[in-house]
Amino acid sequence: MKNKYIIVEKLNTGVGIITLNRPKVYNALCTDLLAEVSNAIINLDQDLKIGAIVITGGDKVFAAGADIKELSTLDFSSAYMNEFIKKQWLVLEKHNKPIIAAVSGFALGGGCELALLCDFIICDDSAKFGQPEIKLGIMPGAGGTQRLTKAVGKAKAMQMCLTGDIIDAKEAKNYGLIAKIVSEDSVLNEAIVMASKIATMSQPVVKLIKDSINNTYELNLQSGLEYERQSFYTTLALEDKVEGIKAFIEKRKANFLNK
Ligand code: CAA
Repeated sequence: MKNKYIIVEKLNTGVGIITLNRPKVYNALCTDLLAEVSNAIINLDQDLKIGAIVITGGDKVFAAGADIKELSTLDFSSAYMNEFIKKQWLVLEKHNKPIIAAVSGFALGGGCELALLCDFIICDDSAKFGQPEIKLGIMPGAGGTQRLTKAVGKAKAMQMCLTGDIIDAKEAKNYGLIAKIVSEDSVLNEAIVMASKIATMSQPVVKLIKDSINNTYELNLQSGLEYERQSFYTTLALEDKVEGIKAFIEKRKANFLNK
């Protein structure tokens, strides 16, 4: 099936590249885009010629998070009953092959969480990371309070999630969020070089290392993610969620009533 929101390429160096492609809305992660990413990962995982995957949003932006217009119609009961996030993100969490996030520009909200879900992140100087959900009257729901805390530590994660502050590439590097900063215009190439190198290694050994790091790193993470998801669903029942998202769409500051 033809993709509408992503571009998938396979290089003869054994690398699969997924490019998020909704530039007009900063690659906002609508449900259909995430479904396409999941299908692409399943396909690349099954392809014996592919040894590693790169996810990029292109050279301007990685992704500005969940699609806020879609979120505006999402309420507690439909999110809870349809397991919003869980369904779309499960494949991403369970992929077999190493995935490198190549980040330029904004990686915010779900975009930051998507990058964190990859096995490691490289970025250029233009990269900016943040969990600004609180400004919308909601909270992170796909790992922002969990993987981010594991990556940068409690103090920095608290600051980022509670203020919605955005950090630049240098700060992200200082806090261990990313593996490497490269010069602008070379982040995708650098990711491809790294992925191609991984693709030359013994694939069972690659998987054993990846699983070994992730399985111990993620001990207790799943219950944390479940707790976070349930709390995120709860924010969808708040009047402040309606106000926060309305304010974003109307391009004004939110006036929260704490309800
Ligand atoms: N969803 C939908 N549309 C988005 C979007 C998003 N996450 N981010 C940006 N857009 C759209 C804007 O609405 C705008 O569209 P129009 O031209 O039709 O008005 C277009 O992209 C360009 O955006 P801006 O005019 O705002 O561009 P800017 O350069 O002034 O600011 C930005 C860029 C800082 C990324 C700003 O767009 C922004 O703050 N975006 C929202 C970031 C955010 O809050 N992310 C968290 C989403 S919630 C989430 O992610 C929860 C979850 O996973 C569970």
